[in-house]
Formats: sequence, C-alpha cells, structure tokens
Amino acid sequence: MRQATYPIDSFFLERVSSRAFSEERLSNEELFSLFEAARWAPSSYNNQPWRFVFAKRGTPAFDTFFNALVDFNKQWTKNADTLVLIVTKNNFEHNNEPSMTAPFDTGAAWMSLALEARLKNIIAHGIQGFDYAAIKAKLQIPDTFSIQAMVAIGKPGNIENLPSDIRSKETPSERKPLSAIVSEAVFSFT
Ligand SMILES: Cc1cc2nc3c(=O)[nH]c(=O)nc-3n(C[C@H](O)[C@H](O)[C@H](O)COP(=O)(O)O)c2cc1C
Repeated sequence: MRQATYPIDSFFLERVSSRAFSEERLSNEELFSLFEAARWAPSSYNNQPWRFVFAKRGTPAFDTFFNALVDFNKQWTKNADTLVLIVTKNNFEHNNEPSMTAPFDTGAAWMSLALEARLKNIIAHGIQGFDYAAIKAKLQIPDTFSIQAMVAIGKPGNIENLPSDIRSKETPSERKPLSAIVSEAVFSFT
C-alpha cells in the first residue's frame, strides 16, 4: 500500500503502470479522450511540441511498433489495444530556435494522458525499451523531431494471466523520500 508523507489526493497514489491488459478493445472516443487530455498540457510559449502516432492492435502499424520492442516488453504489450509513439518537435514554431523545454513539455502532456487514463480505468504504461532508430527509420521521422517514448494503452485485465515473473511486478512501486529530491537554497544532490 502506497503511503504519502504529506497529504495528497489518493488519485496520485492509485496511478500505476500495470502490465495486465485485457483483450477488450478501446473505443475511438476512449482513446481520443486521452489525446484530448494531453492536448491541454502547458508548454513554453504554448508551443505544444508533443506529437502522438498511434497504432491499433491488429493493424500492420501495430506490428511495426511491436516488433521494435525488446522481448520483455513484447510479453506484456501483446494484448494492449493501442501502442502510441510520443515524439517532440525540437524547435519552436514561432522562430525555429531550439526549445530547451520541448521534452519537458511533452512529458507534461504524457502525464496528462496517463492521469486521464487513470480516471477512466484505462492502463497507460510508458515504454523506453524499444529500438528508437528502427522506429525513426520505419516512420521516416525527420531529425527535427525526437522520439521520447512509447505508451501501451488498453483496458485492465486479469493479473493471473501474466507470466509469473511479470505478475510479481504488479505490486505498486515505491518512491525516493522527499529529502532525496527536494533541497532548499542549495544544490545538494549527488
Ligand atoms: C518514459 C517511461 C518509460 C518506461 N519504460 C518501460 C519499459 O520499457 N518497460 C516496462 O516494463 N516499464 C516501463 N516503464 C514503467 C516504469 O518502470 C514505471 O513507471 C515505474 O517503475 C514506476 O511505477 P508506476 O508507474 O507503477 O508508478 C516506463 C515508464 C516511463 C514513464
């Protein structure tokens, strides 16, 4: 059971990255509600550098995304309804100068997507374990964009159906103490 050290809404503690997907399909409306939440994230200059490429299970595009995953991730994403590639546009649109915060802004959008998913009892599980270069080449993503991550999205399923090594990871993860991530006045981190 996750415990907060300071009072927060339990919603934040309840969001977890489950790997237990059911085969149940998401409606277009459910999926696009998640992109809608992401769309309203804040960004430097309101530049909105986030881009989402999605692929539905059962389509050639899903196979392309899926084939780029490392074997561990293939085991639990095979029942996901949708795989989403999250990409950021590197430069500002108003002056074409590099945006220092484009990945930060895109991270905010991903979190909005993940929290909206939690509100709707949908799993949104971030993924770094895939071949970035292969996906970049396959989708012909220009160098003016950077791939950030993938997300596996779908309805929650039965944990018992997961292989035992993956099932054991379904326990909610813990966090570093606040003292390890917050410092007053000085940079005190190693
Ligand atoms: C950007 C990102 C990439 C991740 N990559 C993977 C991954 O490749 N495989 C995986 O099983 N989990 C992956 N995760 C899930 C993390 O391990 C998980 O978020 C972390 O352990 C915290 O657990 P929680 O999300 O349940 O709170 C990723 C999460 C994020 C945000």
